[in-house]
Amino acid sequence: MSNAIVVAVDGPSGSGKSSTSRGVAVRLGLRYLDTGAMFRAMTWAMLEAGVPVEDAEAVAGRAVEPTIVSGTDPLAPTITVDGVDVAEAIRGEAVTRAVSPVSAVPDVRARLLELQREVIRQAVLDGPGIVVEGRDIGSVVAPDAPVKVYLTADPAARAARRAAEEGGSDLAATQQSLLARDRIDSGRKTAPLVQADGAVHIDTTEYTLDEVIDQVVDLVRAVE
Ligand code: DC
Repeated sequence: MSNAIVVAVDGPSGSGKSSTSRGVAVRLGLRYLDTGAMFRAMTWAMLEAGVPVEDAEAVAGRAVEPTIVSGTDPLAPTITVDGVDVAEAIRGEAVTRAVSPVSAVPDVRARLLELQREVIRQAVLDGPGIVVEGRDIGSVVAPDAPVKVYLTADPAARAARRAAEEGGSDLAATQQSLLARDRIDSGRKTAPLVQADGAVHIDTTEYTLDEVIDQVVDLVRAVE
């Protein structure tokens, strides 16, 4: 029996998922998987191929094509599509605008679910485990994860964090775009964003990053 740990971290954009997940992985010597980056990479591939991203059938028909590879070092995560480094390109506006409709397509989710479970399986085999962040990790991808966290924050705080990450983009526009993505991510039929059964809810609005990392590390230590 493996003692490897899987930590599922879900929540909306700007809730602190990425910084928290990476921080926890570094502190505990775990691998790290950003599933949002995989959905962004799939979206990038669709845009590159000229697929109309609002056409769910067209997107579904191409979902098996791109080879998406995620590197799981929390200090230097990587992502490639068909061997091309897309780490920077997937953070651009075109991908951000298109990623929610692409992520709502069941064939896209089925394809990426397979890849995500394979990365988790490998990390558990290698030990000591992995922190996985996304929207449906505790509910669908790894429902048996011994630690599940659901992070939220006030929309204004989330927009301020995202705008700062994006180099000072317009706050009101950033908040609008976040809320629009929340609506699609929470309202879709397949694997919507929800607080999973057994997930611990942490509202990060009033906490520093280190304080949130401490709380999650404590949850992991409590099950070890
Ligand atoms: O975490 P992020 O903002 O990079 O995620 C980008 C999009 O990917 C998000 O709007 C919804 C989608 N996503 C998803 O549907 N399921 C996941 N597990 C992770 C991300």
